[in-house]
Amino acid sequence: MSGAHDVRLGMPQLPAPDYPAEVRARLESDAKEVIARYPDSRSALLPLLHLVQSEEGHVTRTGVRFCAEILELTTAEVTAVSTFYSMYRRKPSGDYQVGVCTNTLCAVMGGDAIFEALQEHLGVGNNETTDDGKVSLEHIECNAACDFAPVVMVNWEFFDGQTVESAKALVDDLRAGRTVEPTRGAPLCTYKETARILAGFPDQRPGAVAASGGAGPASLVGLKLAKGELAPGRIVSPRGESEPADAVPPRPGEQAPETHPSSHDAPRPTAASDPSHPSGPVTEEGE
Ligand code: FES
Repeated sequence: MSGAHDVRLGMPQLPAPDYPAEVRARLESDAKEVIARYPDSRSALLPLLHLVQSEEGHVTRTGVRFCAEILELTTAEVTAVSTFYSMYRRKPSGDYQVGVCTNTLCAVMGGDAIFEALQEHLGVGNNETTDDGKVSLEHIECNAACDFAPVVMVNWEFFDGQTVESAKALVDDLRAGRTVEPTRGAPLCTYKETARILAGFPDQRPGAVAASGGAGPASLVGLKLAKGELAPGRIVSPRGESEPADAVPPRPGEQAPETHPSSHDAPRPTAASDPSHPSGPVTEEGE
């Protein structure tokens, strides 16, 4: 870090302090285990950033220095990566990172109202932490759980189908130290504990693995439709092929609809599928 400057003040910046010897030794041992999983040591940077985050709750200059030294990178290279990804925090924050999805579907289903209510309830704004250091509130982007909108994430665990009242109760429980259960997935743990799991050290608590759930019924609707289990009907095959052999026929007594529910999304005939297409059939040479 020698020669680094604080660009805001134009002043030389002091080198980042090192960890205390005991902490350094422990982190080095963990880091070696992580690095050994990769053919190229620098590939371990992302888990190592989680590892140093598990120590202090955010990526400090000391953590950046540690990663740089152990991976033989520059602190500028490590900083560039750690500031790119939103899962690395750059300032002290709460034990529980409460993210309210305010992307389009969650927003219209109540996410915007939940975020506003939590700001008022907790007395903090976006990316701010309650005075007791328990909860940090933030907007988050879509977490691909739109079918359970509006979604709140706590330390990356899902709390589906939230309301203003349930979200307020959730943060109250977190601040009071009461146990809360995510809708699915592993049991909730603190941000530091979560960071250690993300670094590649599995949650050893009894039941942690067994508790991991899969996709819920709403997530499986598309799959069931595709299999004909929810709305059996004609399978629209792309490129004019015949129905697949495993197409699910209508159940006895059920009337097959004229078209598949999603037939309006079926591919249109193209030069590749329609010999009479004005562009003519696609040939090997033409591709
Ligand atoms: S819009 Fe919120 S999870 Fe997708």
